[in-house]
Amino acid sequence: MKLIGMVNKMRNASITGWGKYLPDNILTNKDLEEIVDTSDDWIRSRTGIKQRYIADDGETTSDLAYHAARKALKTADLKAEEIDMIIVATVTPDMPFPATSCILEDRLGADNAATFDLEAGCSGFVYGLSVASQFIESGMYDNILVVGAETLSKIMDWEDRNTCVLFGDGAGAAVVQAVDKGGLMSFDLGSDGSGGESLYMPGGGSLNPATEKTVEDKLHYIKMAGNQVFKFAVKRMSQASRDVVNKAGFGTEDVDLFIPHQANTRIINSAAKRLDLNNDEVYVNLPEYGNTSSASVPIAMAEAREKGLIKNGDKVVLVAFGAGLTWASAFLEWNEEGK
Ligand code: ACO
Repeated sequence: MKLIGMVNKMRNASITGWGKYLPDNILTNKDLEEIVDTSDDWIRSRTGIKQRYIADDGETTSDLAYHAARKALKTADLKAEEIDMIIVATVTPDMPFPATSCILEDRLGADNAATFDLEAGCSGFVYGLSVASQFIESGMYDNILVVGAETLSKIMDWEDRNTCVLFGDGAGAAVVQAVDKGGLMSFDLGSDGSGGESLYMPGGGSLNPATEKTVEDKLHYIKMAGNQVFKFAVKRMSQASRDVVNKAGFGTEDVDLFIPHQANTRIINSAAKRLDLNNDEVYVNLPEYGNTSSASVPIAMAEAREKGLIKNGDKVVLVAFGAGLTWASAFLEWNEEGK
């Protein structure tokens, strides 16, 4: 594990645009009672989730990404052709290749953008911010679009109650640009590949190329050992939050708002307790959206900003964990006034 940030920079990078998008269809816990052997009470008490949004049959990850990206460009007052780079974090790309970021680039008309996808599970968006930040700080690029977008419903085993009640679809996006002060101050990124099989989709890659048998064996669906991920999440979310704040020269008591990956309110509460945080210092929207993987942090961030819960100068922590297993955190002094 390495801490990055607070090194010599040519200039600072900051989030100057934000946007979120959810598909139209809502799937409630009551609806799920009709699909698998579960109950609204079990789902609420064990996870905190009340409902989630589900993409239509023909609706893709790039579709959701497009709508979130358009909103982020609007708030940043940036034209698509001014984007230098697009990073799409996702575990549910439209297809293995071309990258979803290329599809998004074409749809946006971002003809001058370099593009690539980034796969770091639910930590992908924060990983993406760290990459964008390096390109801005070095002076190589001025305008970078970072998107977290998922259609997890497409890789869900709707007969597996251990997983299908947890996840939802959605997208969030951010524009990263240069600023005079503040912005993205430090990052803490890490991974522990030994935990890979506690959260994975085994089919469709070089290990298990798609065959009738892999479909029959349900290898193209999410597999998860929930309690192993739970323990990892509580430990890493609190540690990564503390490390990234300290690296920027502050203490967790200085932070105005923590925006954690939205997977389970029990995970969020346990991490918050370890960090001595009050409820109003932690943003939670999990009940409405479920776990949207790499989209969860940018959706929560856009929503918190839209509600006026983040103001210029506020100290904000974004923190996530996910498949890999991975974790990532970012500390920022909110500054949305691009140069
Ligand atoms: N409805 C009713 N009962 C259920 C359901 C359900 N939907 N799901 C599981 N159960 C049952 C189990 O079968 C088990 O029954 P048993 O005791 O008879 O065997 C019982 O409930 C308890 O199961 P546990 O797994 O012990 O339940 P737990 O309290 O650990 O909660 C949960 C499970 C919600 C999955 C929790 O472990 C969790 O949230 N883990 C983290 C998962 C996560 O965050 N994943 C996403 C990572 S991010 C990414 O990259 C995608």
